[in-house]
Amino acid sequence: MENIFKGLKNRGSVFKDKQLLDHRFLPHHLPHREEQITSIAKYWIEALNNVTPSDITIYGKTGTGKTAAAKFAMNQLKEASINEDVFIRTEYIRCTDYTTEYQVIARLCQQMGRDVPYRGWTKAEVVNTFRDIFKKNAFGKNLILIVVLDEIDILLKNDGDGILYTLTRTDNVSVLSISNHVEFKKFIKPRVKSSLRDREIVFPPYGAQQLIDILEERARLSFNKNTLDDDVVPYCAALAAKIEGDARYALDLLRTAGELADEDESKKVFGAYVNDAKDRIEHNKITDIIMTLPTQQQRVLEAILKLTQRKEEIISGKLYDAYEKISKGDSVSYRRIFDFINELEMLGIISTNTVSRGRGKGRTNIITLQCDTDILTDALYS
Ligand SMILES: Nc1ncnc2c1ncn2[C@@H]1O[C@H](COP(=O)(O)OP(=O)(O)OP(=O)(O)O)[C@@H](O)[C@H]1O
Ligand SMILES: [Mg+2]
Repeated sequence: MENIFKGLKNRGSVFKDKQLLDHRFLPHHLPHREEQITSIAKYWIEALNNVTPSDITIYGKTGTGKTAAAKFAMNQLKEASINEDVFIRTEYIRCTDYTTEYQVIARLCQQMGRDVPYRGWTKAEVVNTFRDIFKKNAFGKNLILIVVLDEIDILLKNDGDGILYTLTRTDNVSVLSISNHVEFKKFIKPRVKSSLRDREIVFPPYGAQQLIDILEERARLSFNKNTLDDDVVPYCAALAAKIEGDARYALDLLRTAGELADEDESKKVFGAYVNDAKDRIEHNKITDIIMTLPTQQQRVLEAILKLTQRKEEIISGKLYDAYEKISKGDSVSYRRIFDFINELEMLGIISTNTVSRGRGKGRTNIITLQCDTDILTDALYS
């Protein structure tokens, strides 16, 4: 028998280079973000004149190119500073990986060659080590550090605004914060706000035509010639434009549609594959959420599923009874159930609706499942 990988490898594919559709790939050109990238550059150019740039805050919904634009600008600055008589460092930190002030500062120290442990020291020791870097540097030049704090909301929620205070109160450090929420500044106290004299840059959602431009450019690099039916790119763009102009979703649709065409051994990607791609992405998203829920919460969801399948109206008392049966003695209190219901509602898996039962009978919350019962069954019992 021929080696199974050989057989699979030689099978045709609509893709020329699928990696270019991966989230981690940073394109060399970002259509429709020229204005935002130029804005960043206009502030950062100060660094080339040996002046610490203003702090910057980038806002925008998910998939609007914030991370891509910031990384692009970082690379451009690195390139531009090579032949200049300046000493500039740019450091990118994703605040989902480094979730406390200590961790961020320790990481920065390490990136700049200081041996700081990720735990054990006091915060003051770490901060002092960090500040020392700027006091004396071997090059005898003014070191300017630009720190990009991506998904800063998570850090602020988790550990407060100390990080911004420390960074903005360190000479020669400029911060670019990236946030999904315009209201992220409510986590910042006035004393920090006054030292964060930041410039704001907004990343609006992409429109359908803009998404077409983005996808077409990427498709040219990643798909083989004549493998995309004419309506595929516009269809992906239209679907993504409907959900808040999210370029990541548009690219996911295109890639998944291509994968489905390959699975089908089709030489071409058609619009129907985009429909299937939409279902598959939705399926995977819900499955991921459910599989990572804590056990007790999964049991509540299981109870909701059971009641839904029995076509019963779901109120909290009945839900608790069903939940207790499932958890067989290992259950949380009735009051905790309301937290779970809130969390499930925030995740979009269920919805609640208050109805009045008529005079004197008060009001009741009715819970309705918002996702497909088959998907839920798969996720809970797989
Ligand atoms: N203008 C663009 N041109 C080409 N690709 C783009 C553009 N904007 C976004 N992308 C691509 O879309 C995907 C999402 O972009 P990015 O990660 O920058 O979004 P984001 O705003 O940081 O989203 P989130 O808030 O979820 O982190 C990435 O794969 C990125 O390469
Ligand atoms: Mg991002």
